[in-house]
Amino acid sequence: MKKKSLALVLAAGSGSRMNAREKKQYMEIYGRPVFYYSLAAFEHCREIDDVILVIPEEDEKQVREYLEKWSKEGLGLSKLKAIAWGGKERYDSVYSGLQTAAGMEKYAYVLIHDSARPMLNETMIQTALKGAVEYRACVLGVPVKDTIKILDQENYVSATPVRSSLWAMQTPQAFEFPLILGAYQALFQEKQQGKQLNITDDAMVLEYYGGEKVKILEGDYRNIKITTPEDLILAELYLK
Ligand code: CTP
Ligand code: MG
Repeated sequence: MKKKSLALVLAAGSGSRMNAREKKQYMEIYGRPVFYYSLAAFEHCREIDDVILVIPEEDEKQVREYLEKWSKEGLGLSKLKAIAWGGKERYDSVYSGLQTAAGMEKYAYVLIHDSARPMLNETMIQTALKGAVEYRACVLGVPVKDTIKILDQENYVSATPVRSSLWAMQTPQAFEFPLILGAYQALFQEKQQGKQLNITDDAMVLEYYGGEKVKILEGDYRNIKITTPEDLILAELYLK
């Protein structure tokens, strides 16, 4: 039997750094909301079997209206099998999606992707998935171009890590499904015990709770995350 691959598309953030009234995942580029582009990329990639979309519960009506509209336009997303409710932090949203998936099918691999990265393409998906197959856990990233400084509390430089060892992490982050689910379960056990968590990506969860090494594969500088208003202009340019 073929091993099934799932894409988990995260669109449950509030986009606070965009400083806009509308959440960034719904901002439109060329007539489509930002979150459409990742869904479409996974839909068109042969290696992906199913997609789960994670959204804020209060946005259900708005998202379902979009889905209906696309389906009428012939842009149906046949791989989209479920919508899950996000939580306060990104890791809450990921865990919600993983639990939804665990109740649906036996997935071999999962690709976790920020919908705020609309530049996702087939090459990125295939690279991440191949990485999960070969290394069990893999994240796309790019070497940083700027020199990075660690600052102290008064904004004085306290250290300068060697640039050649620094890479900026992107998504998709791709894993053997049981491996990442187990790591997230361990993370949430600690959360229940009241531990402060400072987790910003899925690789960190594996680093801390999975006991597994995470392989970094080269992504693409164009795979930007829309975070602040300038990023929207860049995304528009790249998506042209
Ligand atoms: N995300 C999510 N659930 C959260 C937080 C984030 O699903 N509780 C998603 C976002 O929708 C986004 C991705 O994770 O696609 C990356 O997060 P980020 O860029 O930080 O988006 P936001 O959290 O929405 O933005 P901000 O941090 O500026 O508030
Ligand atoms: Mg955030």
